[in-house]
Amino acid sequence: MFEKYKKVLKKDYDAWYQENKAYRDKVAKDPRRLKFHLMPETGWLNDPNGLCQFHGTYHIYYQYTPFEPTGELKMWAHCTTKDFIHYRDYGPVLFPDQDFDAHGVYSGSAFVDNDKIYYYYTGNVKYFDRDDYDYINSGRGSNTVMFTSEDGYHFSEKELLMTTDDYPEDISNHVRDPKILKHDGKYYMVLGARDKKSVGMILLYQSEDLRHWKYFDRITTEEPFGYMWECPDVFEIDGQLILTCCPQGIKPQGFDYHNPHQTAAMKLSYDFDTKESRIEEIKLMDRGFDFYAPQTFEDERGRRILIGWMGIPDAEYTNPTTEDGWQHALTIPRQISLRDGKFIQEPIEELRKLRCGGTKMAEFDGNEKKICDDVVYEAVVEYNKCKNMKMTLREGITLSYEDEVLTLDLGAYGSGRTTRKVRLESLEQLQIFADTSSLEIFVNHGEEVFTTRIYSLKGEISIEGQCEGMLTIYPLKSFLIE
Ligand code: FRU
Repeated sequence: MFEKYKKVLKKDYDAWYQENKAYRDKVAKDPRRLKFHLMPETGWLNDPNGLCQFHGTYHIYYQYTPFEPTGELKMWAHCTTKDFIHYRDYGPVLFPDQDFDAHGVYSGSAFVDNDKIYYYYTGNVKYFDRDDYDYINSGRGSNTVMFTSEDGYHFSEKELLMTTDDYPEDISNHVRDPKILKHDGKYYMVLGARDKKSVGMILLYQSEDLRHWKYFDRITTEEPFGYMWECPDVFEIDGQLILTCCPQGIKPQGFDYHNPHQTAAMKLSYDFDTKESRIEEIKLMDRGFDFYAPQTFEDERGRRILIGWMGIPDAEYTNPTTEDGWQHALTIPRQISLRDGKFIQEPIEELRKLRCGGTKMAEFDGNEKKICDDVVYEAVVEYNKCKNMKMTLREGITLSYEDEVLTLDLGAYGSGRTTRKVRLESLEQLQIFADTSSLEIFVNHGEEVFTTRIYSLKGEISIEGQCEGMLTIYPLKSFLIE
């Protein structure tokens, strides 16, 4: 059924790894390497995959290719942690070693049920050598694949569940990134899809045993919202269904949708009996330059945790780390909630354990205040009032508030990128995580987030403007990876 391509087996990777110590040493010397973010040892990282907690241990898999910093052949790498401070890195664990995934073990997810982990992913095949090659309709195979594990480390054989021919007739060959949810005792698989008219949507499949899946429905907006929805996730918070996904092909509108591709959180009303669906509200999930493909899971404490890719496909700038042989990272884990109906993202509380002493607290009252020159820090700003303000977060990089608009400005350090903005009635609070080459800015207790890679390495923190309040800087230490 499948044409043959060159696959990469574990033994091929092991041989390559043996021969490439010099590559690893070169990457390790880059001063932009991050202290508390997961990143590739060499090469490229993108979407988080298979997130789950099993018997106390958090499992984080991700799209990875160690061979070059520009992407290409994807596999799944694996990390674990119990506390989000100490990690173990297992390197790549799933290889493109089958006919049905020869051009990439693409994104997917994990679902814990009956003391077992069920994994689903898209096996990608590119039919470059076909006479009728066409990117949208015939050029690739998008195969839904499953495997299981009793412990998160040892995996069963991959089982092919669906091929491109099994999806509905009017759907193009772009179908990928399966994620599972359980509702009223039945299992649903959500897949991101593009139809033949280039309308983005999700496909829903239903199953009673997690292995046999029947087409159930499709969900999209009333008016088309982009040509493809990647990396969908559907979950429930306080009785409200939330659909997150990454729509592609949306034009900028005001301050919104300026990145090459978007990540949206939608309030979904869906009747699983009548299949009536309505998307009621769409929120751009992140305001920064580098955020995509987030995935959530419920942990054993019942928290809904999200991790995203701190990067973006088809970026219009060259990430300076490319020259040093690596690109991209995952975001810090965030806890998701609904507050007064608003979609909220806040850093998980475990990250407080990264604070390592040397805390500086400063009241500010309008005059420019230079605080310190830390580079790797968490900053908490509590405003008593704020008419306008300008905060320097790193040399040349500012966050300012003026006329109810909050602006992140990368200045001379943007590598071609300039500003990102959001309208905000009032600025009350900021929580900022600055790593060597990244910023994650949580605004008003997580109502908005800006996630961005930055390349100014010189520390400088100051605040000025018609505002009063308290700024606390917590220097942060590295997390530990074995
Ligand atoms: C999103 C994405 C997914 C795909 C994966 C391949 O960044 O394009 O849709 O499965 O990356 O690496």
